[in-house]
Amino acid sequence: MNRQTTAQRWYFRERPAEKVNGDTFEWREEPVGDLADGQFLLRTLYLSLDATNRVWLSDWDIYMEPVQIGEPMRGFVFGEVIASRHPDYPVGCHASGLHTWSSLIVSDGTGFAPFPALDGIDLAEAFATMSVAGPTAHVGLHHIGGLRSGETVVVSGAAGAVGVLVGQIAKIAGARVIGIAGSDEKCALLRREMGFDATINYRTENVADRLGELCPKGIDLCFENVGGDILDASLTHMKDFGRLVVCGLISTYNAAGKVPGPFMFRNLIMRRLTVRGFVILDHMDLFPAVLADLATWLRDGRLKMPVHMVHGLENAPEALNLLYTSGNTGKLLVKLD
Ligand SMILES: NC(=O)c1ccc[n+]([C@@H]2O[C@H](COP(=O)([O-])OP(=O)(O)OC[C@H]3O[C@@H](n4cnc5c(N)ncnc54)[C@H](OP(=O)(O)O)[C@@H]3O)[C@@H](O)[C@H]2O)c1
Repeated sequence: MNRQTTAQRWYFRERPAEKVNGDTFEWREEPVGDLADGQFLLRTLYLSLDATNRVWLSDWDIYMEPVQIGEPMRGFVFGEVIASRHPDYPVGCHASGLHTWSSLIVSDGTGFAPFPALDGIDLAEAFATMSVAGPTAHVGLHHIGGLRSGETVVVSGAAGAVGVLVGQIAKIAGARVIGIAGSDEKCALLRREMGFDATINYRTENVADRLGELCPKGIDLCFENVGGDILDASLTHMKDFGRLVVCGLISTYNAAGKVPGPFMFRNLIMRRLTVRGFVILDHMDLFPAVLADLATWLRDGRLKMPVHMVHGLENAPEALNLLYTSGNTGKLLVKLD
């Protein structure tokens, strides 16, 4: 094969003190050479923007190697194979995986998997659901949280990618679901279109008081995506022997210094709580069963994923901040034009 093509890529240039800014990344255009045996060339169609992208840019001791300054920015991508010398990735097939913020990717398949066609389901919605958010919601509720029918579930960050699926998957399992989100519009969407039983707008309502009213017998399972005051409010109203699934603490990811709380930590004792943090990448063995469930629910209409689409790879750095300014509803994706 004799081809020379140009890839657009974002590189990590400077560690942000707080939010990602104009100095954080550097745009480069680089030639893509010939493929070796066992490689394929992927044209990226969608880039997933995830809260954890910001965590990878920190100098914290985290769950995987952070992105180092000077390296291409890492991200979950979905694309179409446009040239191939790899038997498992023929031209025309779709693939998704963990790679880089890049318009063209040469890969030997490491970190990738072929992405099956889901008849009747929009590709963006399928990727948004199946890549990270769906497995995280499913594994967090069932495998980590041990959800049972009839229980009361509270989820924070409820109108985000993970949260919106947590609510719907908990409803499928027969739970009662209360979502906490940051606007009346998001709360209305959750109740009207996603089947949530009740919602709390944390900007206009007292979350602890409202949880007390909505959960007079306490919360069985809290699925935490946010942390801070919102976590404290849920800790205040946990049922005896309730479970707290710590999926994310997005309110702390841009913090420059120490973060306070939680102040109701004593309820781990008083309410005899089980608290489990998890990272979805540790549970790849569960993916075949989890993805089969997600595909079934997407196809039969029980699961919906709103997609917040930003156009153009060049806009990815600015778009990442939408996750931290409540700017997205559902899954934040970048479509490469
Ligand atoms: N453990 C894992 O393996 C795993 C995997 C995937 C994601 N996660 C975690 O899941 C959470 C959601 O991630 P995502 O990628 O799906 O993002 P997302 O929920 O789609 O977007 C973030 C949303 O969080 C809310 N938010 C942001 N800052 C906030 C703050 N200070 N206080 C209250 N709400 C705030 C905003 O919605 P509002 O309008 O409601 O403010 C924002 O739209 C994150 O904490 C992430 O780290 C964990």
